[in-house]
Amino acid sequence: MANTVIIGSQWGDEGKGKIVDMLAATSDVVVRFQGGNNAGHTIAVNGKQTILHTIPSGILHDGKTCLIGNGVVLDPFVFLQETDSLAENGLDVSPRRLGISHKTHLILPYHVALDRAREAYKAGGKIGTTGRGIGPCYEDKVSRIGLRASDLANPDLVRTKVRQALLEKNVLLQSLYKAEPLDPDKVIDQVLGIADRITPYLTDVSGVIQESMRMGKKILWEGAQGVHLDVDHGTYPFVTSSNTVSGCASTGTGVGPNNLDRIIGIAKAYTTRVGSGPFPTELNDATGDFLREQGHEFGATTGRPRRCGWLDAVILRESARLCGLTEIALTKIDVLRNLPVLKICVDYRYKGQRIEYPPQGENALAEVEPIYEELPGFSEDISTCKHFDGLPSNVQKYIQRLEALTQVRIAYVSVGPDREQTIIR
Ligand code: IMP
Repeated sequence: MANTVIIGSQWGDEGKGKIVDMLAATSDVVVRFQGGNNAGHTIAVNGKQTILHTIPSGILHDGKTCLIGNGVVLDPFVFLQETDSLAENGLDVSPRRLGISHKTHLILPYHVALDRAREAYKAGGKIGTTGRGIGPCYEDKVSRIGLRASDLANPDLVRTKVRQALLEKNVLLQSLYKAEPLDPDKVIDQVLGIADRITPYLTDVSGVIQESMRMGKKILWEGAQGVHLDVDHGTYPFVTSSNTVSGCASTGTGVGPNNLDRIIGIAKAYTTRVGSGPFPTELNDATGDFLREQGHEFGATTGRPRRCGWLDAVILRESARLCGLTEIALTKIDVLRNLPVLKICVDYRYKGQRIEYPPQGENALAEVEPIYEELPGFSEDISTCKHFDGLPSNVQKYIQRLEALTQVRIAYVSVGPDREQTIIR
């Protein structure tokens, strides 16, 4: 298997965890390159479910090296909770196989407090963030006042940075958002209290990847969220604060883009979105409820019900060109069972014109009207299908139509949550 990047090609929650877990079996190194514990990657093995927020999904495979790149924002407290819980389940989470880039920015308690206070303060226009401090942490990175993982080895630097940060943030918290200020000494004690547990994980992530590639090992980059939540290319301002497109695999781990061989976009066979923002194919009706119930569409991180709608090929076409998708892995097609008619949005109507790609401009996507094509549904149980040819012809037609609409080959079809329930074409 070549070096591979996995990204979500819709608004997140496409089932990346399962596909990463599957491809991890034939990779040597699994690395996260953006986002933080706003992600929730659900993996089912032998019927047992694990949700990972911070640690790469490859951790469930013995002997794989798992890395957290510089593009990630890491909540060190959540990281330790996750390592503790994985260790309790008998997994090796030692620094022998798990590493954090020296350059990874840390999510601290004041980032979480600001994220929540800011969302609570907004009367309208809420983004509906996950409240994990993601945006405020990336803000500090870009403002050049962030605390990085390597700083944990330098207590004086931690003290100086936390004090300086809180000078400004406490003014915001108290005066503007009418929230409780944070005591700098307490935050410093909290951070220094875990420093010794984090510093053994500090790793030159770029160096490890380069060296692994030199030895002929295979790298898997595990994306989080989805292309249309990208801070530049997504439905701004209703986006996350990182670049979720495939190019970030390079910048977020310190590896040249020429090393990214395969770029697999994960796409759910219908569309979901959590939080606010335009969603052209959203269904606020019984079909939307059906998808939510059958697909268990409730957030893995926040438990929020997800908004559900028909498959949107325009969104996927855009992801294909923004990320250079070489393949698509189509997930949860089994959820569509028993719907008499399946609709795919093939183009949009916008200001009287038929368009093939999303329009540019803030919230322009809220003004499009989806143009649908109808395909016949299926009622057969496909959860044990092992081959494409064994799928009912209506399912095959749906998949082939999506390939034609996106001009990207559908290389994997997932027909159930378990590792084994995947058709490889
Ligand atoms: P944030 O990333 O917590 O700042 O949230 C910004 C937007 O991205 C909100 O609409 C969230 O619901 C959405 N979001 C963040 N992470 C995920 C994810 O892993 N899956 C789906 N939506 C997400």
